[in-house]
Amino acid sequence: STSAQAAASRFAFEGIAAQTDATIHVPQGYAWSTLVRYGDPLFSDASEMAQDAAFAPDAAARVFGENTDGMELFEIDGRQVIAVNHEYANPEINLPASAGEVTSADDVKTLQNLQGVAVFEVAREGDTWSVVLDSPFNRRITHLTEMRLTGPAAGHDLLKTSADATGTSVLGTLNNCGAGKTPWGTYLTCEENFNGYFGSTDATVEITPAFKRYGIGAEGRYAYEAHDARFDISQEPNEPNRHGWIVEIDPADPASVPAKRTALGRIKHENAACALTREGHVVVYMGDDERGEHLYKYVSNGVYAPGVDTDSLLDDGRLYVAVFDWDGTGDWVELTPETTGMETAEILVHTRMAATAVGATTMDRPEWVAVNPVSCEAYCALTNNSRRGVAGDDGTVAMKLNAPNPREANEFGQIVRWYPTNEDHGADSFRWDLYVMAGNPKAAEGAHKGSANITEGNMFNSPDGMMFDTSGLLWIQTDGEDSNEGVFEGQGNNQMLAGDPATGEIRRFLTGPKGSEVTGLTWSADRSTMFVGIQHPAAPFPDGEGMLPRSSIVAVWREDGGLVG
Ligand code: FEO
Ligand code: CA
Ligand code: CA
Ligand code: CA
Repeated sequence: STSAQAAASRFAFEGIAAQTDATIHVPQGYAWSTLVRYGDPLFSDASEMAQDAAFAPDAAARVFGENTDGMELFEIDGRQVIAVNHEYANPEINLPASAGEVTSADDVKTLQNLQGVAVFEVAREGDTWSVVLDSPFNRRITHLTEMRLTGPAAGHDLLKTSADATGTSVLGTLNNCGAGKTPWGTYLTCEENFNGYFGSTDATVEITPAFKRYGIGAEGRYAYEAHDARFDISQEPNEPNRHGWIVEIDPADPASVPAKRTALGRIKHENAACALTREGHVVVYMGDDERGEHLYKYVSNGVYAPGVDTDSLLDDGRLYVAVFDWDGTGDWVELTPETTGMETAEILVHTRMAATAVGATTMDRPEWVAVNPVSCEAYCALTNNSRRGVAGDDGTVAMKLNAPNPREANEFGQIVRWYPTNEDHGADSFRWDLYVMAGNPKAAEGAHKGSANITEGNMFNSPDGMMFDTSGLLWIQTDGEDSNEGVFEGQGNNQMLAGDPATGEIRRFLTGPKGSEVTGLTWSADRSTMFVGIQHPAAPFPDGEGMLPRSSIVAVWREDGGLVG
């Protein structure tokens, strides 16, 4: 009966219908409001966003940046501080006067300052939340912010440039996608498609095998190379090696210098999901989001305990890559000079090639990893892969069907789950299964209908963001096809769902506005409010017809004040 199901369910909401409109929907009994939009001030001296003119370069670093993505909330001295990524630019929105064309060094600098990371304090006013202007915690980190390179590859010749003969100091963090939070309360921001910022003013520049494997070519996405020589690979062939890392930021200290942690490897990092081994070593799970790439795990040599000096925990450790077997088991294979035939710094800079050398399993675009806080298991969203078996011009590898990636022309994606041996995230082996194969039970055939926990009422495609709440519910965000046509009919706009790990049940909780992806999730300290990221919406979100669409973070709460979810 319905009441018996409700009693047995972990969910405190009824799943909602798919939507195709330009706004957000949440379940009955829940409400939402906008916390902050692209271009909103973080400081009272910031200039207003104009509909028809770009921010000046310096002004761009005083506002909430473009394309909100991974985020975490930190409690610092009783205050609530969000750190959030600004993944990439939307030039047609950011440079409206030139319809998105990058025409000057100032245009490049404006875009550079609209990306990176924002750190800002939030406060509740009644039911809703707002940014605390001029809070001492407020900070923008951009493509121009000074950072240190740390760990075993720091100082290696591969990281030296004309501006930095030491190979230890770099400007900026690029294409910050997903995120993570360390046990000691720092923010991890993950550099994903950093390759796209590099180009060459010399079209005959050599594209080395390493450039090819990482998708670095002669034409940059935003013409940085034409106006900032650092991004011109014919001038600075090592500058790309200084990006593609996980960066640690201390949100409690606005003067701190972010650290690029080379021990965690250089890939197109999606996010960084932390756990502790039974002995207290720090584990960081990491996906490399490209078709045919891999899933990684870092384990620190040192042990974390409250009060220890944490600066070396992400600089000194072992890096592993996952090999999945057909029999439902798998292994973490360590990347060492012995297993790869490469020297340590080379393994860390060209991690993809090291993973290939040990026979790592090729995956359907590993996006976020999430670690269950109440059971020893972790999940990775494998978002989709529509071109399996085809090697890309961009250097992407051809891949065959394998056990955790069992469908040709995988348009919907799946979520793989692993159970570490002896319930220890430090173990070098695991059992695994598929938590869900997304699909369309109405419009698709065969395996593309999806696994048994996919119904006409909860279907989705392209799982991407994933976070566990403290009770152990898995929140799944999508970044997929929102045409609502063909095999995607009935799936509607991108969305956020909640999954019960124990029963497999999945319910749709939120639908995003047309054109957007839903990405980034964190909670207020008391878990009464959920903060959800809406990236690249189409007009007219959130300001109505005639206004530029603006990527935003929204707050979602239960009208009776209960815990969300
Ligand atoms: Fe930035 Fe793989 O998503
Ligand atoms: Ca993503
Ligand atoms: Ca994605
Ligand atoms: Ca995105």
